[in-house]
Amino acid sequence: MIQLRQKSSLFGALLLGVALFGIGCKDKEEAKPSGTGKTGETTDTASRGNTVTGDTIKIGEYGSLTGDNSTFGISTHRGIQLAIEETNAAGGINGKKLELISEDDNSKAEQAKTVVQKLVSNEKVIAVIGEVASSRSIMAAPVCQDAKVPMVSPSSTNPKVTAIGDYIFRVCFTDDFQAVVAAQFAWDQGYKNVAVFTDVKSDYSKAFGELFAKKFKTLGGKVAAEPTYQSGDVDFKAQLATIKGATPDAVLIPGYYTEVGTIARQAREVGLSVPLFGGDGWESDQLIPGAGIALEGCFFTNHFFSHDMTEPHILSFIAAFQKINPGKQPGALDALGYDAAKVIIEALKRAKSLDSVALRDAIAETKDYQGVAGKITLDANRNARKEAVLFKIVGKEFKIFKSYRPEQVGL
Ligand code: PHE
Repeated sequence: MIQLRQKSSLFGALLLGVALFGIGCKDKEEAKPSGTGKTGETTDTASRGNTVTGDTIKIGEYGSLTGDNSTFGISTHRGIQLAIEETNAAGGINGKKLELISEDDNSKAEQAKTVVQKLVSNEKVIAVIGEVASSRSIMAAPVCQDAKVPMVSPSSTNPKVTAIGDYIFRVCFTDDFQAVVAAQFAWDQGYKNVAVFTDVKSDYSKAFGELFAKKFKTLGGKVAAEPTYQSGDVDFKAQLATIKGATPDAVLIPGYYTEVGTIARQAREVGLSVPLFGGDGWESDQLIPGAGIALEGCFFTNHFFSHDMTEPHILSFIAAFQKINPGKQPGALDALGYDAAKVIIEALKRAKSLDSVALRDAIAETKDYQGVAGKITLDANRNARKEAVLFKIVGKEFKIFKSYRPEQVGL
């Protein structure tokens, strides 16, 4: 039994290695053609942004394929790749194939900016997909805005991301909604007094905590304590002791899976046994391995996708995903990566010309697009108004407990 388990984890590690190696190789292969002497390939005029002049339509992707939150980048990449492959298998767009150029930012904000500069200026991509983490999207978005190249974030929820400019879009809801859902849920559960434990290094975490507290107080709730941590920390016991002393009914941790697992374990160790809850940052196949049983029965808000959903378009997405990733279940990040790429692909079909300015205008017109993580209509602020789900952690599974539409929380 033990031997079997070791074998399968070794196999898993090998698979991951092969997958990462594959990504690395592909980047190098794909990076070459742009500089290989197709004359007149560069048409980066001030007015049209980047223009397609070669045989392929280049789309850039930047994400955390390695580093602290690598499950975010790896899952998102799988979804993006699927959308690109499906489009190419169906003949591409106006006879041109799509070429995905993936850059790894190593889960670092500075690196995100550097690789996006490379995608936009050297590779001359016509659109950029990324990032997951709001702090990295906020860092890289100005590069796209200045170059007039549309950027579509699959899953960054901080309100500031799309406010950077008219070239910056997202296919997910914002934390103005997600944090309000978390507050309404907490109140409906009967929690009157909630502690908020925030990662001060993360734009996502800070805004989520603030937006939650504001709504929760409006509903009549009290914020029991507001200690902080920093991503990368490993010892949270001092803050957890403070929280325990404030005797809250529950604790909101608007952080990423990387720290949430450890925080949950240490909370139980210091005798803090109340429910913990969070947001989409908990979404990872590494959450439960990190937390053990410490999150049993806990809750988190997430994007409107579950592999248990049975609508036909979701079933065909899952089937296509599993053909490429045998034995795996897609998560919200796979779904959102796929949807972000599809919104660009659909816009390419409608764009008046194959340049990044015309593409921006076509993306802005996205209306009622049936994505796998919910219907997408981009509003005047380039955000999507969508439903959210609330997951309950049961064993190793995330089970849909409830779903919320914006109207249900007064938005
Ligand atoms: N919404 C998070 C952020 O903005 C990122 C995230 C999305 C993480 C979805 C996991 C799943 O930083």
